[in-house]
Amino acid sequence: MAQKAAEKAPAFFGQQEYAKGLDGVIACETHINYIDGAAGKMIYRGYDVEEIGERTNYEETAYLLIYGKLPTQSELDDFKAKLISYRSIPPEVIQVLKIIPTAKTHPMSALRTGVSALGTFNPDAEEQSIENYEDIGLQLIAKLATIAGAVQRIRAGKEPVEPDPSLDHSANFCYMMTGEEPSEVFEKMMDLSLVLHADHGVNASTFSSMVVISSLTDMYSAIAAGIRSLKGPLHGGANEQVIYMLNEIGSADKADEYMDNAIKNKVKIMGFGHRVYKAYDPRARIFALHSKELCEAAGKPELYEIAKRVENKVIEAYGEKGIFPNVDFYSGTIYHCLGIETAMFTPLFAVSRVAGWVARILEYLPQNRIFRPRAIYLGEKDLQYVPIDQR
Ligand code: CMC
Repeated sequence: MAQKAAEKAPAFFGQQEYAKGLDGVIACETHINYIDGAAGKMIYRGYDVEEIGERTNYEETAYLLIYGKLPTQSELDDFKAKLISYRSIPPEVIQVLKIIPTAKTHPMSALRTGVSALGTFNPDAEEQSIENYEDIGLQLIAKLATIAGAVQRIRAGKEPVEPDPSLDHSANFCYMMTGEEPSEVFEKMMDLSLVLHADHGVNASTFSSMVVISSLTDMYSAIAAGIRSLKGPLHGGANEQVIYMLNEIGSADKADEYMDNAIKNKVKIMGFGHRVYKAYDPRARIFALHSKELCEAAGKPELYEIAKRVENKVIEAYGEKGIFPNVDFYSGTIYHCLGIETAMFTPLFAVSRVAGWVARILEYLPQNRIFRPRAIYLGEKDLQYVPIDQR
């Protein structure tokens, strides 16, 4: 009995409890964002994300996250002008993107490569002043949209277009992907999506970028690390997997049976569940509303129908465990209705989240201590070396 209880007890290492996946471990202090996972609430710098989503745009949100307050009109104008001045990327980076075998390469890999290449063209990349980290951070917020736009154009067999300085960040990003000025709806939805994805606690990609910067390496390396982590299907890559699943289901009348099978076989349903939320993700609630409208407007009401049935089934089966739609569930249906290629969904997430990565890095650097957790050693000890001819 006592032995069984000991087996169930958490493992301790020194004074520390072992938390698989760093579950519940406090890694830093922050003023940037707070998630109330039980209530399904999230705030950016004190403001409810639902209000921020309704009332701000991406530039205003990025400013808020980085500088800790809503900008005045002139601060916002200066910030926007700076981002516009930073949008262009060297032609050599476009050349690098062009030699990537696009058909076989995920656009997140191309984005990551684009950021790495970009760093090599900045002679000031290695300067370790907070001002330099900030300046390169702002450059990367502006340029990631340009790289993602170019990646999309190259994937479609088209020439990348130059950024348009007359357009706001979101509209310009749409323009750089399609080569056309976006409709009002396209721009509004892109902007909302960029605002809602901009930051979210110490998630895997944010933590990755913080771990990387904590060695005082350069900003390009840290942001490329964030992209690398975001790409995975358990993180940002889930939005893409959701659409593959909805397409596989195919029609609303097949959704219940598909889900019953998935639940019976304990398949992890993409776009559901969260380490912190044990209630409905507030961002998913906002996206669900827009998804319904957009699917109808795009003549694809069944896509929303399928998604809604999937949601009902998952909540029926796992709601008690606290598994609800997360941000990635409905966002994909919106992007799909806007005509965006499925593989580009996660790059869109990165184009937004870069603001959060930059804000977190700039917040962490002044209190920097290199991240260095430890592991519980389970291997052998005191083995004697055996020469190779005697093994
Ligand atoms: N479908 C079915 N069961 C699930 C799901 C899901 N999507 N998510 C969690 N569970 C179950 C899991 O099987 C486990 O059950 P049990 O306790 O019986 O073994 C329990 O819930 C806890 O799951 P976990 O995997 O230990 O939870 P975690 O906190 O380690 O992982 C997660 C969180 C988001 C990685 C996970 O919920 C998941 O894999 N979801 C699907 C992928 C996804 O949608 N990712 C996007 C995350 S949110 C936005 C973002 O970061 O991009």
